[in-house]
Amino acid sequence: MRHGTGAAQPNDLGDALWMPFTSMRQFRDAPLMITAAEGMHYTLADGRRVIDAMAGLWCVNAGHGRAPIVEAIRKAAGELDFVSSFRMSHPGAVAFARALTELAPPGLDHAFFANSGSEAIDTAIKIARGYHRLTGNGGRTKLIGRAKGYHGMGFGGLSVSGIGRHRRDFGPLLDSAHLPLPYDPQRMRFPHGSPAEGAGMADALEALLAIHDPATVAAVVVEPVTGSGGVYPPPQGYLARLREICDRHGILLIFDEVITGFGRLGTPFAAQWAGVVPDLMALAKGITNGAVPMGAVLAHARVFDAYMAHSPEGIEFAHGYTYSAHPLACAAGLATLEVYRAEGLFERANLLWPLWDSAAHALDHAPHVLDLRTIGMLCAIDLAPRAGPPGARGADIARACLDAGVLVRASGDTIVLSPPLVITEDQIRVVFDALAHALSTTP
Ligand SMILES: Cc1ncc(COP(=O)(O)O)c(C=O)c1O
Repeated sequence: MRHGTGAAQPNDLGDALWMPFTSMRQFRDAPLMITAAEGMHYTLADGRRVIDAMAGLWCVNAGHGRAPIVEAIRKAAGELDFVSSFRMSHPGAVAFARALTELAPPGLDHAFFANSGSEAIDTAIKIARGYHRLTGNGGRTKLIGRAKGYHGMGFGGLSVSGIGRHRRDFGPLLDSAHLPLPYDPQRMRFPHGSPAEGAGMADALEALLAIHDPATVAAVVVEPVTGSGGVYPPPQGYLARLREICDRHGILLIFDEVITGFGRLGTPFAAQWAGVVPDLMALAKGITNGAVPMGAVLAHARVFDAYMAHSPEGIEFAHGYTYSAHPLACAAGLATLEVYRAEGLFERANLLWPLWDSAAHALDHAPHVLDLRTIGMLCAIDLAPRAGPPGARGADIARACLDAGVLVRASGDTIVLSPPLVITEDQIRVVFDALAHALSTTP
């Protein structure tokens, strides 16, 4: 069916749009169309307002449509719509790089801009490989990811991804190996934050390095807290142990903080929460409160300095994107950081954490619940799958929540939650009441 060029009605689907990570056939049967957003709420095409318990897609940490961010984007669009970042720059890029590095742990002193989490991770992987080559270790090209890791959809991120379904269809990836998920469902089920025991699970890295010659490994890439793969908090001390092992073998440690950055765990980044400084950190999502696409890599001074010291002439890092440091994204990012600061949203996440944790774990014994994990302002609920195709129960529970006025995300039969950090205590109760009702009324 073809449509003319007239403005589409909110529920007029046409056939031109091919959507990411969506069953197009199911979507056409039951389209979820959203027409507006404000604060904690989305407006659906039928006019209903629902609580957004996912901060969009783990990104709108300050809530939707925040006036200072909207205004900054408007102003930037009028002043400097675009400028290349190849051999030139603009004050917004300089200011935003400085602001991000000031927020980061000491040593992460340089920001390279991209446009998404996928680009940030691919950039980080290239920085790591280039670093080794420049410092006389060109044989270090292999990458180590982790089971259930999600690092976007570029070929670099996909290579370290630990989600088989995402990798299956796309041919050979970069040379990589994977750590096991540091989570023992027998001992760790229903965790409230990081399990106390289990730091030793990081020794799986030593075991991998006994198979893959460490002198061939460029980097270990992990999310400090596994996010899209199902919110798995790392055991206490696990990340520090990874750091030690990487140091012992001259391997760079890359934290993918695309979800954990910007207050999810009550600190600017998970690195500060864990007390572990990676060599490279990938950022996106909350970097602009989701308002303009942007990603960034923060690089440790020793990595950046090596590029400067070992490149005899010309361009030190032959990489970049047309829209790196786009003026609208930098303006949105600067305004976003100011909203986070002025409203104390990272501290707010810390204050809300205990209530979030107890409201979530009140569902531990609800029907269908196999496991429930919380950390910071994140939660995942594993549901017993129904007979038949996987994901049916998860989809039904998400639909029942929506009917009750709360948008949650079903990832197969796991429900994930990651609300804007401006959520109120009452709204936290509304979210978990809706889930309790959905769990007890959905077969
Ligand atoms: C940890 C992590 N890394 C990378 C990405 C990819 O980000 P993007 O979708 O912006 O490319 C995501 C997206 O969900 C993510 O959660």
